[in-house]
Amino acid sequence: MSRGHFIALEGGEGAGKSTQARLLADALRNREIEVVTTREPGGTAGAEAIRSLLLDGVAGDGGESWNPRAEALLFAAARSDHVHRLIRPALARGAWVICDRYLDSSRAYQGGGSGLSDADLLELHRIGSEDLLPDLTLLLDVSPDVAMERLARRDSGGADRIGGRSAAYHARVAEGFLRFAQAEPARFSRVDGDGDAQATHALVLTAVAPLLT
Ligand code: TYD
Repeated sequence: MSRGHFIALEGGEGAGKSTQARLLADALRNREIEVVTTREPGGTAGAEAIRSLLLDGVAGDGGESWNPRAEALLFAAARSDHVHRLIRPALARGAWVICDRYLDSSRAYQGGGSGLSDADLLELHRIGSEDLLPDLTLLLDVSPDVAMERLARRDSGGADRIGGRSAAYHARVAEGFLRFAQAEPARFSRVDGDGDAQATHALVLTAVAPLLT
């Protein structure tokens, strides 16, 4: 049986990753491909429990929650469980895995945003997930104005602990993603996400086409 393919969608807040994950999964399923859609942090019961610790914080912590190193370790722990229980088994049986965020989010947020070194984050990934990388990482490029407008619609109830960080933090995150995409052009494909969902989906399909042959 052929090995499945692992595709991650990355980008800042409001980039449209979850919509594109859904559209891509539908398109692949129409080709009779088994697809597992999942997200990070999360995707397994354990990782979803860690997600709420990360994004909602912990009662009684005075709003402070995790220091940057503890935060990076929690993301790596959630990812380890996700890779071990869900992603590797799915790939092993020949399914495709489409994941809304993965390792490059840790590199961009905990690295670019919070200042941890890329080497440390890669080391956590080696320990936690034995270096498993996506075959293709789709970086959805969205201009700040478009992202802000989408977020205003989506997050009317308020952003989570990380989404609510400063504009300067999110600018460093965006720079990080671009740097990683430039450094690894074979693993990344940049997709213009400013258009409507169907226009972006067409670009996603073009980027994924080489994996379908
Ligand atoms: P989520 O609502 O799933 O993301 P989005 O805003 O893209 O819909 O929230 C996940 C948050 O966690 C988001 O702010 C990015 C952040 N994050 C990290 O900081 N590091 C990571 O490794 C991952 C996977 C996510």
